[in-house]
Amino acid sequence: MTKNKNIRKYWDSRSLEAGASPSATTQDVFLRELEILTLRKTLADLDLPPQSNVVDIGCGDGYSTLCIAESLETLSFKALDFSSNMIDVARGRLKNKSELKERLSFEVGDVCNLRASLEQESVDIAMTDRCLINLTSSEQQYSAFSEIHRALKPDGHYIGIENFKEGNDELNLIRKSMGLQEIPVRWHNLFLKQEEFVLKIKSLFRNVEIIDFSSSYYFATRVVYSKYCQMQGAEPDYHHEIHQLAVDLPPFGSVSPVKLIIMKK
Ligand SMILES: C[S@@+](CC[C@H](N)C(=O)[O-])C[C@H]1O[C@@H](n2cnc3c(N)ncnc32)[C@H](O)[C@@H]1O
Repeated sequence: MTKNKNIRKYWDSRSLEAGASPSATTQDVFLRELEILTLRKTLADLDLPPQSNVVDIGCGDGYSTLCIAESLETLSFKALDFSSNMIDVARGRLKNKSELKERLSFEVGDVCNLRASLEQESVDIAMTDRCLINLTSSEQQYSAFSEIHRALKPDGHYIGIENFKEGNDELNLIRKSMGLQEIPVRWHNLFLKQEEFVLKIKSLFRNVEIIDFSSSYYFATRVVYSKYCQMQGAEPDYHHEIHQLAVDLPPFGSVSPVKLIIMKK
């Protein structure tokens, strides 16, 4: 539990450092744009009836939730995060958005104890974006999937963007072959293992899809651009145009840790 507390402290301090800038939950702001586009399209494609409700768990500073909610006007959103500082920033973002206030709220809540925040079978869609990788063991991660399952209505969907070890290993193999350093997994992250995930999740969910939506983005930014920076003796810059243009690349390959999961209760 101490590690969970340290992770919460980390996110509390990230939100203070970043304030209202959109970099509190990742320095890679264009990757975040790609995540927003992907989640928004996935939700729109489900063609949900009006008034369907979405819960965004681990919403951070609310930047992504707000962008998604703004463009999907018939849905209502509740967004949770265990960092009260992040929730304060998110509520600040909502302050001047009178239309959204009626169908979006931000609350402190823990994915490991969703019953404190959500009634059983009360949610049409549960979403996470790089939240479950903050849990400290695979037991905790699968117990969080059970909590999510419990909160979903029958036939409800889980839509998640989470990191997988295999995509990261593939990326690092390519980087190594190009003379680039491996990218380590950060201390507060635990990536899912794809085979274990597929095996374990099928007791809870059906129609499980794992989609490589960010592989071309990673290839452009973490292989091509990284090599270019190495050749120039320059530090990579997350705001470089190559990050911006990589958002629009058509998806190909499987060299990214960050994948989209779609599944049904
Ligand atoms: C990488 S950030 C992503 C935030 C947001 N989803 C986004 O895409 O910008 C991870 C967020 O998950 C939150 N988080 C981590 N563990 C959590 C838990 N057990 N319950 C709820 N939120 C959690 C953190 O506080 C942090 O805001």
